Amino acid sequence: MPTPHISAADGDFAPDILLPGDPRRATRIAETFLDDARLVTEVRGIVGYTGTYQGRPMSVMATGMGMPSATIYATELIRYYGVRRLVRVGTVGGIHPDLELGDVVAASAAHTDSDMTAHRLPGVHYSHAPSFALLRAAADFADEAGVRLRVGPVLTSDAFYHPDATLVPRLAAYGTLAVEMEAAGLYAVAAAEGVEALMVGTVSDHVVRGDSLPSEGREKTFAAMVSVALGALGA
Ligand code: HPA
Repeated sequence: MPTPHISAADGDFAPDILLPGDPRRATRIAETFLDDARLVTEVRGIVGYTGTYQGRPMSVMATGMGMPSATIYATELIRYYGVRRLVRVGTVGGIHPDLELGDVVAASAAHTDSDMTAHRLPGVHYSHAPSFALLRAAADFADEAGVRLRVGPVLTSDAFYHPDATLVPRLAAYGTLAVEMEAAGLYAVAAAEGVEALMVGTVSDHVVRGDSLPSEGREKTFAAMVSVALGALGA
């Protein structure tokens, strides 16, 4: 059933989905990793595909940037299309000094400077957490595949260009690994809807050191991240 933002028909999505922010990345994942992928939605250029991965149904769909956009798609996928396990794949900005460019990160928690999820449970400082089953499967897969996976908290920020320069160092002092813009919202929606979510990212740039990955490095690390995300889904 089409929704305001998704034009797919009933049954067009698999229960498992990868969620990159960038529509071109969704297309690339569908072309590179899925068999028999077909386009199922493209409202506003936010493309979604369904195919199979190692014989199992698998979808991939873009979310756009930031929690307001990502949570619209996640909510509609869960409520109207029966999606049950959502793994975001994206880039993150490194905060922690130990983080190298190209590292793959899995968010075991997401702090946020946003009020978006605060309105769900007034009076509660809600802890944004992933599905333990997905997180454990991601870590196990990475161990076996020899991918260096860093597991820890991230900051989900509303602002890419943050006006408060002290925020990142303050969070680094609390062991926060990286900054991105969707995980906390995705985790809260999944919890509220009774489904599972995880955020896996690659370190495309380091916010404190000010360095960033050249395009060649981005390709290699992108494949490692997608393989960890698919591994988390047991595919
Ligand atoms: N900030 C927010 N999101 C990001 C960044 C960043 O520096 N890098 C990659 N995603």
